[in-house]
Parts: sequence; C-alpha cells; structure tokens
Amino acid sequence: MKVLGLRLLLVLLCGCCLACGDNTDWASKGPTGEQYPQAELSLGEAVYIDTCSACHGRNGSGNFGPELVGKGHKYSYDEQRNLVEWGRRSMPGFGASLTDAEIDAVVAYIRVGFFDKSAD
Ligand code: HEC
Repeated sequence: MKVLGLRLLLVLLCGCCLACGDNTDWASKGPTGEQYPQAELSLGEAVYIDTCSACHGRNGSGNFGPELVGKGHKYSYDEQRNLVEWGRRSMPGFGASLTDAEIDAVVAYIRVGFFDKSAD
C-alpha cells in the first residue's frame, strides 16, 4: 500500500511537471480571438522586427528568448502586455523605450499578427 501510494505520488508529480513545463505546442493553437486594425498590426510588426526579433526570432520561433507564437493562449492580454512593459528575469522591459501605442501594437502582433499572412 505504501509503495503504491509513493508511485501514485510520483505519477502525479510527473504529470504536474509536464503540465507546468512548456511542452505545449502553443503555435498550433493559432491566434487569440481579439481583432486589431491592420494599421496596428503593421506597426506591431515593425516594432517586433526592430525590438524583439533578435531574441525571439524573426517569426517568433525563439532564439535567446522563448518561442512566442501562440503564447496569447498562455497569457491574458494584460499579463502579456505587462511582461513586455516591465520585463521578467532576463527579458528587459520596454516601458521606457517604447510608447504605449507601440507596446499595444507589438502585443497585438504577437497575439494575432504572427498568424496573419496578409501582414507579411
Ligand atoms: C534581450 C533579449 C530579449 C528581447 C530584446 C526581448 N525579449 Fe522577450 N523574453 C526574453 C527572455 C530571455 C524571456 C524569458 C523570460 C523569463 O525567463 O522569465 C522572454 C520572454 C518573453 C515573453 C514570455 C514568453 C513565455 O512563453 O513565457 C514574451 C511575451 C516576450 N518575451 C515578448 C517580447 C516582446 C514583445 C519583445 C519586444 C518588444 C521582447 N520580448 C524582447 C528575451 C528578450
């Protein structure tokens, strides 16, 4: 009984690690439900290429920083926007170097623009 309990605990722990770790294929989840004007997505793309692509890859597939495509399903809009504004661990914050409109636009771009082929 004791051994069985321990095994169950291990299975639960492993399951939890998998769920918490980032083995999820976020990209396959597609864009989030929000809609943004094309002009905002275009601005977001320009900001992204200039400011984010060195660390996150030109197409958001990751480099020094993690993959971003589809992560709008992992974070709410506000969570993601705060992360970009204030940074987190080795991700710098951009609240001082980008305007509010530029941050809005780049967040729109990483949430839906990555999937919008017409924005290319
Ligand atoms: C200097 C490199 C660098 C730059 C430039 C950079 N990031 Fe990051 N970013 C990171 C790193 C490293 C992380 C992981 C942070 C952590 O471990 O908590 C990250 C994490 C993120 C996350 C969370 C991803 C996840 O799956 O948890 C988002 C969203 C994000 N960055 C967006 C952006 C945006 C948008 C820009 C441009 C405005 C940008 N980043 C610019 C390095 C960078």
